[in-house]
Amino acid sequence: MQYSLKLLAAGLVAQTGFTWAVPQARNFIYIVPDGYGQASQTMARDYVSLQRTGSNESAPIIEELAGDRLVLGTVRTHASDNLITDSAASGTAFACGHKSYNDAISVLPSGQPVGSILETAKLTGFKTALVVTSTINHATPAVYSSHVSHRDSYEAIAAQQIGYSHPFGPVVDILMGGGRCYFKPQSDLTSCRSDDLDLFGFAQEKGYHVMQDRAAFDNFTSGYGAADLPYIGLFNDDQMMYEIDRSKEPEKEPSLLEMAKAALGSLDKATTNSTKGYFIMIEASRIDHAGHANDAAAHVHDTIMYNDVLAYVQKWIDAHPDTFLMSAADHECGGLTTNGFNPTPLVDIQHSYEYLEDLWNAYNGTDKRGYFISTILPAAGLASATPQQVDALLAASSPWAQMKVLIAKKAGVNWSTGGHTATDVNLHGYAAGAQWREYKGDMAGNHDNTKLPRYIEKVLRLDLDETTRKLQAVNGSWISGFDAAKRSVFAKRQSH
Ligand SMILES: *[C@@H]1O[C@H](CO)[C@@H](O)[C@H](O)[C@H]1NC(C)=O
Ligand SMILES: *[C@@H]1O[C@H](CO)[C@@H](O)[C@H](O)[C@H]1NC(C)=O
Ligand SMILES: *[C@@H]1O[C@H](CO)[C@@H](O)[C@H](O)[C@H]1NC(C)=O
Ligand SMILES: *[C@@H]1O[C@H](CO)[C@@H](O)[C@H](O)[C@H]1NC(C)=O
Ligand SMILES: *[C@@H]1O[C@H](CO)[C@@H](O)[C@H](O)[C@H]1NC(C)=O
Ligand SMILES: *[C@@H]1O[C@H](CO)[C@@H](O)[C@H](O)[C@H]1NC(C)=O
Ligand SMILES: [Zn+2]
Repeated sequence: MQYSLKLLAAGLVAQTGFTWAVPQARNFIYIVPDGYGQASQTMARDYVSLQRTGSNESAPIIEELAGDRLVLGTVRTHASDNLITDSAASGTAFACGHKSYNDAISVLPSGQPVGSILETAKLTGFKTALVVTSTINHATPAVYSSHVSHRDSYEAIAAQQIGYSHPFGPVVDILMGGGRCYFKPQSDLTSCRSDDLDLFGFAQEKGYHVMQDRAAFDNFTSGYGAADLPYIGLFNDDQMMYEIDRSKEPEKEPSLLEMAKAALGSLDKATTNSTKGYFIMIEASRIDHAGHANDAAAHVHDTIMYNDVLAYVQKWIDAHPDTFLMSAADHECGGLTTNGFNPTPLVDIQHSYEYLEDLWNAYNGTDKRGYFISTILPAAGLASATPQQVDALLAASSPWAQMKVLIAKKAGVNWSTGGHTATDVNLHGYAAGAQWREYKGDMAGNHDNTKLPRYIEKVLRLDLDETTRKLQAVNGSWISGFDAAKRSVFAKRQSH
């Protein structure tokens, strides 16, 4: 198949024709490590290796993580209106194949909707899934399943994702993540909607099995793969927990890996007798949030979880060779550098700053200093803080920023920003046997993020543009503009 790419550079128009061998597959697994850069992988790899090999940083024995084995190339990420993208613009690019502006959820700068690879797969007879650790209506899962002019339209996004106000009806067979409060009517005390829409109720009417906590997840998915489609499992009103926190209290929420296993088992079972397979997007969403927070330990643990999911998916593909994996971040976050680097001090850190801050704010006893020394500092990897350091931390308007600097110095990591950067990100991929070689031949190199879904489109034999034509033929009044007054309590806290 001939595919031509127009390169516009320095006023020159070069036309490069190249051929994608384009192997065919039944199933596609797309994994987004949100906000993950090359330094994230280095930090996670060295952190794991030094512990595993018992070596020290002066004589390092470094092992590979799953991601290291699967690198195909790199990806450019700029938005249509900014050299630094957000998750919405980049997501629109890798879900739909079109450049748009920061904040755009699968709409063009003109306001017109563009079809996603997930919607296209669904319309073509595939089963579909979104499995994330952010709120389910956060930008990355949103771009696959909704169309709004601004990413903060969380209520409108949720209503489209479950099919209530999506012109195609329900297009996602499995939804798992956080953001539970957006699916409950405002009459519910734990709702964060400003209307009476009961989206869990709507989901049940449409035949979805609804899960709202870990007990329901365990019960429903016991034995991984037993669960029938469609289902929605939202396990936190807000974002799901950082892995560093969740792993200490696994009874609270399933991990990304557990959710991915359950979803793949269900998708596999549901498509056994079908000519079409499935498309699933799995997002390690909170690597990004830890980058925004400059929280090195939370960033490492969510990055390790991402690699664990890659390792599982690689084995899954060996056992299900009609399946492709592609994985690339939407952008880097935090401008992480590793200067004077040694991640070993991060081993002592037990919790994210987000968790510790909540713990500290909830303390209602009389010995604040004692509690800080006995509980907060050790969990922050600062048990050895001197009395002078403790004084300085307690005197600060917020001790957290200074604790981050102390840890950054100890571990030799530095964050240059609390936002995203323009750096290219890694492209990972996997396929079984000879198909991997063909895949590497097709996709080795540096690509614009809009090219990624065009490859998936070819592998699954889909037609993205046909979906866009169908969406644009629908009266556009369902594409909501952004109403700032409807920004919910969680929307204010949501990092981009
Ligand atoms: C770390 O490795 C170096 C080089 O082999 C060695 O000199 C040093 O003693 C080691 N440090 C520890 C704490 O084992
Ligand atoms: C577990 O699943 C069974 C069968 O679907 C159901 O009857 C029961 O209520 C479930 N229990 C919980 C705690 O969800
Ligand atoms: C697939 O077909 C087999 C044989 O007809 C049947 O036993 C099985 O239940 C079917 N599976 C599904 C998920 O429909
Ligand atoms: C103080 O905190 C403890 C532990 O979180 C809680 O059980 C208790 O109810 C709180 N007491 C008051 C007066 O808020
Ligand atoms: C990080 O880099 C900035 C800018 O170079 C510097 O001011 C700061 O001290 C560094 N922080 C740490 C923890 O090394
Ligand atoms: C589009 O929908 C809106 C609201 O549902 C309606 O008022 C309008 O007349 C419709 N326009 C067309 C061209 O159908
Ligand atoms: Zn971000």
